[in-house]
Amino acid sequence: MTDQSIQTLSHVYPIGSHVDERGHLLIGGCDAVELAAQFGTPAYIVAEDDLRARARAYVGGLSALYDDCDVLFASKAFPCTAVYRVLAEEGLSCDVASGGELALALRGGFDPARVYLHGNAKSLDEMRFALESGVGHIVLDSLHDVERLEAVAAELGVTQEVLIRVTPDVSGETHAAISTGQANSKFGFGLADAPEAIDRIAESERLRLVGLHCHIGSQLLALEPFTRAVAALAALGDFDVYNFGGGLGVAYQQTQEPPSIADYVTTLVGAAKAAVGPGKRLLIEPGRSLVANSTVTLYTVETVKRNVSTWVAVDGGMSDNLRPMLYGSKYEVAIASRMSGFDPARQPNYELCQLAGKHCESGDVIARDVLLDDPQPGEIVVTPATGAYGYAMSNNYNGVPRAPVVFCKDGNARVVVRRETYDDLSSRDVE
Ligand code: LLP
Repeated sequence: MTDQSIQTLSHVYPIGSHVDERGHLLIGGCDAVELAAQFGTPAYIVAEDDLRARARAYVGGLSALYDDCDVLFASKAFPCTAVYRVLAEEGLSCDVASGGELALALRGGFDPARVYLHGNAKSLDEMRFALESGVGHIVLDSLHDVERLEAVAAELGVTQEVLIRVTPDVSGETHAAISTGQANSKFGFGLADAPEAIDRIAESERLRLVGLHCHIGSQLLALEPFTRAVAALAALGDFDVYNFGGGLGVAYQQTQEPPSIADYVTTLVGAAKAAVGPGKRLLIEPGRSLVANSTVTLYTVETVKRNVSTWVAVDGGMSDNLRPMLYGSKYEVAIASRMSGFDPARQPNYELCQLAGKHCESGDVIARDVLLDDPQPGEIVVTPATGAYGYAMSNNYNGVPRAPVVFCKDGNARVVVRRETYDDLSSRDVE
């Protein structure tokens, strides 16, 4: 293979992805068409090196700029054991939003002392599980949350370090469903209510308040709202720990140029140094920007139908990627064996297509109005940037078994989550 025969792909694809001399897509050195043949479709294909590179950009970037700091993996974005394991190996801490995510994080090798439990409706059982596991910090979200955790800590005879979540009345530009910093939010204490919560916990014999947390929203493509959130938190008093949440947006399409991890970290640390000064402990908890671009989803085209539109129907859809249906998110689509632009000799025949899923509703369209070059049944299509909240929100609608997760590195592929079977679909049915 000569250098000219290898085409590097846009920043939407995992770092290290290529198009080979035949026009095939390579992820982590593995041919996507061969992966589809070997593991079936749909499948989530993860470039392990990409995952590690972004983890290192976060950990290295933050620790170069601020002495006492930590990066927490917001594990809701991609909660499978192999991802937890890689990010634990890379030295991150972990944010969990439920007892289930806590169980997965522990299985994935996270030290419980480095786990932070979030949630606006934690159950008493989840609190007991967290305290019995030795979870380092719990992020409190309401006065009932304070009262209930205090009772559980008393019952177990322990003292627990906590942060409180503040809603700083700062919102960035994003879909309403994933905006969380506005005053009218189900999350956290408003700026006016936070002082009462701070005083309340100060009196507690079982809870020790170490700091404040905020998370203003997700898929944020501008940095300025983060700076405002830092200032709002700092104005609430002097604490040891400040956790500024996650939220950095990613490129789902080539035309999107989100801030880099380095720019984001620099801005945040600059704002923190100005607002809270040095000598604090600074935490961030990225999810999407750690994992989204590490992964592509492979599908097989089943049928092509032309009526008012051209419907290219594949073997997955809203069971493996709910994001287009929930948030109107847009994805790029390509044919994995004929990546665009690789063969100048071939006359392409691009057509505006609707990439449809296989599910029984009209809203099940993975990508609308995408240009595809004469897609044929049996061909493999790829949607890049599906690592965040794809697997996480996958489901069995229409009895579709959930897709496997395959890690690729240096030309070697391994299944880290197997495909569900038809037996799995009824494995919890007791009648
Ligand atoms: N911290 C907290 C407390 C969060 O609630 C979240 C995300 C994060 C950190 C991580 O945010 P990220 O860095 O991933 O933006 N299902 C939606 C996203 C929901 C985000 C929920 N919270 C989607 O697919 O876009």
